[in-house]
Amino acid sequence: KEPLRIALAGLGTVGTGVIRLFEANRQMIEARAGRPLKIVAVSARDRGRDRGVELSAYDWYDDMGEMAALPQVDAVVELVGGSDGPALALARKTLEAGKALVTANKAMIAHHGLSLAKTAAANGTSLKFEAAVAGGIPVVKGLREGAAANAIERIYGILNGTSNYILSAMEETGADFAQMLSDAQELGYAEADPTFDIEGVDAAHKLAILAAIAFGCRIDFDAVKTQGISDVRAADIRQAAALGYVVRLIGMADTEMQDDTCKLFQEVRPCLVAKSHPLAAVSGATNAVVTEGNFSGRLLFQGAGAGDGPTASAVVADIIDLARGERSAPFSVPVEELVEMPPADTGDRLGRTY
Ligand code: NDP
Ligand code: HSE
Repeated sequence: KEPLRIALAGLGTVGTGVIRLFEANRQMIEARAGRPLKIVAVSARDRGRDRGVELSAYDWYDDMGEMAALPQVDAVVELVGGSDGPALALARKTLEAGKALVTANKAMIAHHGLSLAKTAAANGTSLKFEAAVAGGIPVVKGLREGAAANAIERIYGILNGTSNYILSAMEETGADFAQMLSDAQELGYAEADPTFDIEGVDAAHKLAILAAIAFGCRIDFDAVKTQGISDVRAADIRQAAALGYVVRLIGMADTEMQDDTCKLFQEVRPCLVAKSHPLAAVSGATNAVVTEGNFSGRLLFQGAGAGDGPTASAVVADIIDLARGERSAPFSVPVEELVEMPPADTGDRLGRTY
């Protein structure tokens, strides 16, 4: 059978995770894909760096953009990061060439997901981004396909592994914020710019993507009210504990009718979570997403939200879908049918507890 020929841009935490996953599970994933999966080209910034994986079988490109035009490439996997710059240029070039794009880049999807989805549709190809939301948890697919029959009333959860790692370590051991952030960076959880993690921006990227899938609306990242964890002090965590709560960075989106118009509320902020709530037990770099559907009831998706292995697992699942010829739209409806949903007028809402 004809192989699916892949170009891999970005050989950092996630990119090398993908190579290790291919090495470990090749026979099984090719059986599931129904055809061979072949990495033919790779790119990163520094060719000389030892990455702990064998790269000699792949053609190296200093200019990652070149890979999109190669006749021997069917699909490009973008694991570089950044909402604009080389990642976006590569994504556009790939889709314009009618080739499929798999990405873990939530910043790029939150800012440009609609235009990329339109380019994919116009060129008869696929845009896939399961790994962009909640690492290894198949929540994009779970929401878009598993919960497809439901009107979603609300979606919320822990969407950033780094900040959850920091908060839960502060709670369990009284550990120091800066030390925990440095550990999360060491473990490969944090973004290239870790302020995205601790200031809630990364969670807001993911929330805006999930809201679009859940409510069939256009991604509106700018409308997410965002507050991170940098002001949370050890004393706040102790005080919360004394009252029966833990502190978690929660992203939440729901809709409400205002002035006869359906409006979208999206918020990321540190919240008090009752110790009896399932989200209170979520610790470390784990993520958890709760959806409330009108027929499914409450669904809880939980698992590793960051790190090389779990994120590679989601990337390769998308690659397997492509190899199988699965061509579903990236959102729950075709991109041109996503509705414009104005931001809800929130006034001075009270802080939430869960
Ligand atoms: P890393 O920083 O570990 O890796 C980024 C890779 O991209 C590196 O190989 C780097 O090259 C390459 N790169 C960066 N800038 C350029 C450039 N200008 N030109 C060429 N190559 C470049 O990032 P991660 O692997 O952690 O993340 C990759 C993507 O996956 C990001 O979008 C991130 O948000 C997303 N993601 C990450 C998760 C995680 O847990 N880490 C989880 C889910 C998604 P070099 O190595 O030579 O410097
Ligand atoms: N920096 C992100 C996090 C990676 O900590 O959750 C996974 O998206």
